[in-house]
Amino acid sequence: MSTIAVAGGTGALGRRVVDRALSDGHTIRLLTRDAARIPADLRGRVTQVVGDARAREVAAELVRGADVVFSCAGASVMMERGRGWRGYGAVDTPLNTALVDAAVAAGRPRFVYVSVFHTPAMRRLAYVDAHERVVERIAASGLPFGIVRPTGFYSAVTTSYLGLARQGALPEIGDGSARTNPIGDDDLAAICAGALDSDERALVIDAGGPDVLTRHAIAELAFAAAGARPRYRRVPAWLGRLGAALLRPVHPRVGQFAAFIAAISTTDLVAPAHGRDRLTDAFARAAACA
Ligand SMILES: NC(=O)c1ccc[n+]([C@@H]2O[C@H](COP(=O)([O-])OP(=O)(O)OC[C@H]3O[C@@H](n4cnc5c(N)ncnc54)[C@H](OP(=O)(O)O)[C@@H]3O)[C@@H](O)[C@H]2O)c1
Repeated sequence: MSTIAVAGGTGALGRRVVDRALSDGHTIRLLTRDAARIPADLRGRVTQVVGDARAREVAAELVRGADVVFSCAGASVMMERGRGWRGYGAVDTPLNTALVDAAVAAGRPRFVYVSVFHTPAMRRLAYVDAHERVVERIAASGLPFGIVRPTGFYSAVTTSYLGLARQGALPEIGDGSARTNPIGDDDLAAICAGALDSDERALVIDAGGPDVLTRHAIAELAFAAAGARPRYRRVPAWLGRLGAALLRPVHPRVGQFAAFIAAISTTDLVAPAHGRDRLTDAFARAAACA
C-alpha cells in the first residue's frame, strides 16, 4: 500500500479518486487551501495539508514521504462567479510545476497528472497550454509518470447544460454538429486510480465515455432532463471566438475557458471510450438532485 499526496482532492474528480484510493487501502495526504472544503466523508480518513501549492514550502510539505503524487488541481472550469479570476497559466502551471519540482527533490515518487483531451490545433489555447506545459515538465523530470487526458466530465457537462436549459435557452456555437464523448466522473476516477497503481514508467491515457454525441444532441438531452422545450441562441463560430477574446482581459479564467468552449463547439473531440456510465443517466441524476 502506498502513501499518495493529492492536490485537487476537494474537487469534482479529485474527491472520487481519493475515495477510491482509500478503498484500495492507500494512505492519503490531501492538499486544500481551505480545510472547510474537505468533504465530510473524507475528514478523519486523510492527513490534511493546508495551503496553496504555488508556495514551494507547501508543495514540499505535501509530497514529503509520498510514494505517488496525484494532481488534478487547477483553476475551475465552471463559469459561475466566486471561482477565481486568474487564468489557467497563472494557476494550473505554477502550482503543478511546483509540485513536480518538490517531487524531484523528495525521493522521486511517481507523478500522475490530469490534463485535458485536445486536438493538436487546440494546444495554442491558454486552457490547454497551461495543462500541457505541466505535462512537458513532468516528462522532462525523469519521474515515472501517468498522464490522463479526459474529455468533459459528466459533472461539468450536466451542471452547465442543465442550468442554461432551465434558464430557458442554450447557446449553440456553430451548427451543433461537432461530436464528443464526455466521461463519467466515477469512470474517470477509476482510470486515475489505476494510473496511481500502475508500474508503467510513462503511461498516457486519453479518456472519453461510451456515448459519442453531437453538441446539439447533448443539448437535447439537457432539455429533456430539465423537462423544458428546446430553445437555442445561435452564435456564429466567429462571434463565439470574438466574445471570448473580449472577455479575456476582463476575466482571464472565464475568457480563456470561453475560447476553449468556442473551439470544442466546432471541432470533433472523441477520445477512446472508457466506462459504462451513460450521459442520459447522468442528466437524469443531475436533474433529480437539483
Ligand atoms: N471538468 C471537466 O469537464 C474537465 C475536463 C477535462 C479536464 N479537466 C481538468 O481536470 C482537473 C480537475 O477538474 P475538476 O473539475 O475536478 O476541478 P475542480 O472541481 O475545479 O477542483 C479544482 C481543485 O484544484 C484545487 N486547487 C485550485 N487551486 C489550487 C492551488 N493554488 N493550490 C492547491 N490546490 C488548488 C482545489 O482545491 P481547494 O479549492 O480545496 O484549495 C480543488 O480541489 C482540472 O485541471 C481541469 O482543468 C476538467
